[in-house]
Amino acid sequence: MSVINFITVHGRRRSRLLSGIFPVILLCLAMAAPLSAGGPDHRAETARGLVKTFAGELGMKLKTALGEGGAVEAIRVCNVVAPDIADRLSTEHDWHIARTSLQPRNTDNAPDDWEAAVLRDFDERLRNGEAIKDMEYFAEVATEDGTLFRYMKPIPTQGLCLTCHGSDIDPVVQSEISRLYPDDRATGYRMGDIRGAFTLSRLH
Ligand code: HEC
Repeated sequence: MSVINFITVHGRRRSRLLSGIFPVILLCLAMAAPLSAGGPDHRAETARGLVKTFAGELGMKLKTALGEGGAVEAIRVCNVVAPDIADRLSTEHDWHIARTSLQPRNTDNAPDDWEAAVLRDFDERLRNGEAIKDMEYFAEVATEDGTLFRYMKPIPTQGLCLTCHGSDIDPVVQSEISRLYPDDRATGYRMGDIRGAFTLSRLH
């Protein structure tokens, strides 16, 4: 965690006892910040960790739900739990964390121009023989709010994803998906395709 992050995340919770010396600490930290705030590599490392946490938690919940309640119950995990985990991690870590895709199921997950270009590039890299697990992309992007650090990591389509993203979806599952997502475009995938990507960003 960078020094700046430490101040914003933990500064709010400081006791009154500390408030007298806090400006002094702040000044020292501000002077040290340019050296220790961390460059793109440091931020990419943090982003990789957050992706692992997000993917791990979601994968576990999805597998449990598929095993215990079946596919219709598991839709709820993707529908409610996935955005919840993303929101919780975003708040806890002061990053924006989400999932996106060139063929989104939820239109809220549609990519912006930058994300769409990166997703197309991931597909191109896959066609050129690169392994999905080795792919990632990050850059610092100038926006009107300041410099944004952006990170993306593609998500491979595994066998179990085909239950809800494949070509041969059970009619009961399909009707629940169509009910919740009338504009769904996330079917017809095959194992080994890139289903989408984790997308993370953080203002400097
Ligand atoms: C039980 C059904 C189900 C299974 C199994 C499933 N998904 Fe999904 N998936 C969904 C639903 C529903 C959404 C929409 C979530 C939302 O509203 O944000 C979704 C959304 C996504 C998204 C976000 C982009 C978009 O299309 O909106 C990605 C990426 C994704 N799924 C990847 C996967 C991967 C990879 C697997 C396998 C490991 C998988 N899914 C398995 C139902 C499923």
